[in-house]
Amino acid sequence: MVDISTSLLGVRLRNPTVLASGILGVTASSLKRVAEAGAGAVTMKSIGPERREGHPTPVVVEVTSGLLNAVGLSCPSPDESLEELRKAVKEIKAPVIASFYGRTVKEFGEVAERISEAKPAFIEANISCPNMESEYGKPFGTDPEVTGKITEKVKNKTRIPLIVKLTPNVLDIASIAKAAESAGADIISAINSYGPGMAINIETAKPILSNKFGGMSGSAIKPLAVRCVYEIYEAVNIPIIGVGGIQTGRDAVEMMMAGATAVGVGTAVMNRDLKVFSEICGELEGFMEEWGYSKIDELRGKAHD
Ligand SMILES: Cc1cc2nc3c(=O)[nH]c(=O)nc-3n(C[C@H](O)[C@H](O)[C@H](O)COP(=O)(O)O)c2cc1C
Repeated sequence: MVDISTSLLGVRLRNPTVLASGILGVTASSLKRVAEAGAGAVTMKSIGPERREGHPTPVVVEVTSGLLNAVGLSCPSPDESLEELRKAVKEIKAPVIASFYGRTVKEFGEVAERISEAKPAFIEANISCPNMESEYGKPFGTDPEVTGKITEKVKNKTRIPLIVKLTPNVLDIASIAKAAESAGADIISAINSYGPGMAINIETAKPILSNKFGGMSGSAIKPLAVRCVYEIYEAVNIPIIGVGGIQTGRDAVEMMMAGATAVGVGTAVMNRDLKVFSEICGELEGFMEEWGYSKIDELRGKAHD
């Protein structure tokens, strides 16, 4: 029997799969279904400082080997989200991660303080949405100094362990990860969607997404995500949740060999439904048995040896 359980800062995950933020994560009941389907941990959709409508539809379009999305960080009011988060923490056996964002550094601190009241296992700062305006006019996570400022602000407001979720849309992701670690981040999550990209309906000669541009996710971005995780692993000493294009157990193995302790699964849930979590775990066990690994942690960083 192989052991696929792992731990993130002492919090046990029965397997390394984590529901990525933004997919089925608005309500406690949908998060519970995902956990019951086999996810090792679940992430709630990013909670913001106020209710936000997001962009008009269409907000998602399928492209070759992936999706483009420009949901626009839609979210219920903080009170409603907090209520759902409390329920999720109470009712779900797997660790619950509360993702959040702000429009300013100060707001990141304020939202972190509020959601910490619900006592999730981790909070995750989404400093990386490609469709989000910020006080700096570009995604926060594209600048090491701003990344450090947000991390520090949040760490001063809460004792819940902090995951900082990075954008791949930078020249040197390792320097951003290092800035987050130096400012006190406990875990790095990488990556958020890539781009933005664009798709045009050639019959109507119009952009398909109402926002014109959207972040790219799914299989097409997996090599980019694996490279980002590989570079981050060489730069920091804190655990990494590897996210981006994971569809199968073999994809999960690849991400862990790059350096991830756990793996986020997003678009694959839309492509393969909730059974994707148990399928990834079964495939992972099969790979480990075939290649003589007994504990999942033996895979971590293997490609660096
Ligand atoms: C429809 C959709 C909505 C998303 N919403 C969020 C979000 O609210 N917060 C966040 O941090 N990431 C969000 N993401 C990004 C995912 O969590 C993940 O980082 C990205 O999709 C790459 O992983 P994947 O290829 O497995 O989907 C969203 C992705 C999609 C496809």
